[in-house]
Amino acid sequence: MKICVFSDYTSLSAACADGIETLIKEKPDAVLGLATGASPEGAYEELIRRSRAGELSFRAVKTFNLDEYCGLPRADRNSYYSFMWEHLFGHIDIAPENARIPDGNAPDLAAECLAYDEAIKEAGGIDLQVLGIGRNGHIGFNEPADAFTKGTHVTRLTKSTIDANKRYFDDNPMPEAAITMGIGTIFSAKRIVLLATGKKKAEAIKNTVQGDISPRQCPASILQLHPDVTLLLDEEAASLLG
Ligand code: PGA
Repeated sequence: MKICVFSDYTSLSAACADGIETLIKEKPDAVLGLATGASPEGAYEELIRRSRAGELSFRAVKTFNLDEYCGLPRADRNSYYSFMWEHLFGHIDIAPENARIPDGNAPDLAAECLAYDEAIKEAGGIDLQVLGIGRNGHIGFNEPADAFTKGTHVTRLTKSTIDANKRYFDDNPMPEAAITMGIGTIFSAKRIVLLATGKKKAEAIKNTVQGDISPRQCPASILQLHPDVTLLLDEEAASLLG
């Protein structure tokens, strides 16, 4: 694992954008795996800036998002569909049909999961997967569990995740289930870049880098076995690394 520690979020975000820009310049039809959440927002802002400046085009790029809530209308401001269009897709020249997000409202969720993994395969696999990490070590919505998950699947969210995300839902109940790429799906990406900032992520980062490889203690610990993982951290997130 390569670990890069930054003194501020702007330079961490720029480093993530640099990796994506370099890939797209080498391979204009690159396949990106994308994450939602606060962690990648700065990188997306930077990509929008570069795209508006004419430095970068997403015309042939394909993207696959990690996850989506189940049962939340796409138009809801808390859906990951809304997040991605607000924070990235609505401001770059990506073809809408190339920006895939799992459909958490599909009438047959099991079929949607299979079709999602199939679409990733058909696209040639993910060249670069961007990840955040949960306080409990989840990646995507792969919560601590007895075994590492394989493909895209429906999952119940844990209390830790609901507590971390419910602030966005005001008085509305937060969905308790989500559709997520599996650990196997994520692990198949050729390159992985994981972003983490703040003290609340320090324990999860320590477990990811130095803990036992354990789906219960820290789902992200499986990344120790991946050949091309870079962690982009701020000093607080890196503070428990020995
Ligand atoms: P965050 O979420 O980027 O909003 O901290 C990350 C996650 O829970 O996976």
